Amino acid sequence: MRITMIGSGYVGLVSGACFADFGHSVICVDKAADKIEALLAGRIPIYEPGLEQLVSSNVAAGRLSFTTDLAAGVAGADAVFIAVGTPSRRGDGHADLSYVYAATEEIARAATGPLVVVTKSTVPVGTGDRVEQILRDTRPDGDFAVVSNPEFLREGAAIGDFKRPDRIVIGTDDDRARAVMREVYRPLYLGESPILFTGRRTAELTKYAANAFLATKITFINEMADLCEAVGADVRDVSRGIGLDNRIGRKFLHAGPGYGGSCFPKDTLALLKTAEDFESPVRIVEAVVQVNDTRKRAMGRKVLNALGGDARGKTVAVLGLTFKPNTDDMRDAPSIAIVQSLIDAGVNVRAYDPEGAETAKAVMPDITYCADAYDAAAGADAVAIVTEWDVFRALDLKRLAATMAAPVLVDLRNIYDRAEAERAGFAYSAVGR
Ligand code: UDX
Repeated sequence: MRITMIGSGYVGLVSGACFADFGHSVICVDKAADKIEALLAGRIPIYEPGLEQLVSSNVAAGRLSFTTDLAAGVAGADAVFIAVGTPSRRGDGHADLSYVYAATEEIARAATGPLVVVTKSTVPVGTGDRVEQILRDTRPDGDFAVVSNPEFLREGAAIGDFKRPDRIVIGTDDDRARAVMREVYRPLYLGESPILFTGRRTAELTKYAANAFLATKITFINEMADLCEAVGADVRDVSRGIGLDNRIGRKFLHAGPGYGGSCFPKDTLALLKTAEDFESPVRIVEAVVQVNDTRKRAMGRKVLNALGGDARGKTVAVLGLTFKPNTDDMRDAPSIAIVQSLIDAGVNVRAYDPEGAETAKAVMPDITYCADAYDAAAGADAVAIVTEWDVFRALDLKRLAATMAAPVLVDLRNIYDRAEAERAGFAYSAVGR
């Protein structure tokens, strides 16, 4: 198969590299010349475990290449995947599809034969219809089939998720497109992963429903955590106690500072807009969005409370800034609201993140960035663990406490035992226990 990936961002680059690893011949296209230049020089513009090695071995094998020239990339392709960004449109929360539609027009003009056009980006219901219309309007002589094939990979575990997905969803009514997609994913469905053929609108909605459901699960356990604190229960045991019921499942029941990232916040908002457009309300998702927003600020207050009394002039060490570990992604990270509420209260923030400091500096230029956890904690009045990077799981708590002005630990990811923290001299608070 000859596959072209339009957009070499997170999803495009991971999908492109994995398809090449399956043995397909893949060209990744991106408008950003600096990104393509970096990739051609073997530099990966994002942090994702295993990606650099995967890209370089497939480039060396001649199966993966990069270009800024969309027309050259599309010529001769069997399938073109659209994996450009679909950010929230400023002001109204709708997904901004201008990049998708602009790419579609260019693909139409560049097509040299029958072509399957696949939307990989998360796009609202009905986008496939519009893509099809643009293809036909731009090239009335063209032979196109449009497929929705949403991607479910998680950052930080992207390659594993792509290569061993729980399922592959392919939305199309076109027989030829179905055959091409089957070929594209052959190495996977010959393995363990079920492949689900659906209508195009169904596939588009499935992606939003999945993300909204996961966001709901997290938000549910976060509210249970608050209730646990109020009644004197332990949310970790509540999670286990409900999660062992197969109908509920154990994953995504870790209470924390609220979900963030490039997907959940944007996709839940976009789903609300779709529901509004079709006058079919999704009230549970509305509540989830609202509760999660409020939570991030509430976590800032939790840290301030732990400082006791007036926080002005005190120093807090924030450990972990990215929205989750193993990424340098700061998009909608809970740390942003937490740090802001600390700054608003007159607190000095010293922060450390293993991979996210550079991206964080663009969002939060006014805090002090430190070399490691102990450096951040030096002279601080409290340490707040905001992101559960592995290096924070095995801190030498005694050493940490010794460097601080006052040993206070706010563990927003529940990674420490109270007894262990207290033995090291900390006043310890966590989430939901
Ligand atoms: C998510 C979906 O999992 C993925 O299927 C989709 O394609 C894109 O969005 P991602 O944003 O990479 O992936 O991160 P994920 O691991 O799902 O975490 C999202 C957020 O939820 C993070 O802020 C994380 O800290 C939070 N979370 C997750 C919790 O607070 N508790 C949990 O139990 C799980």
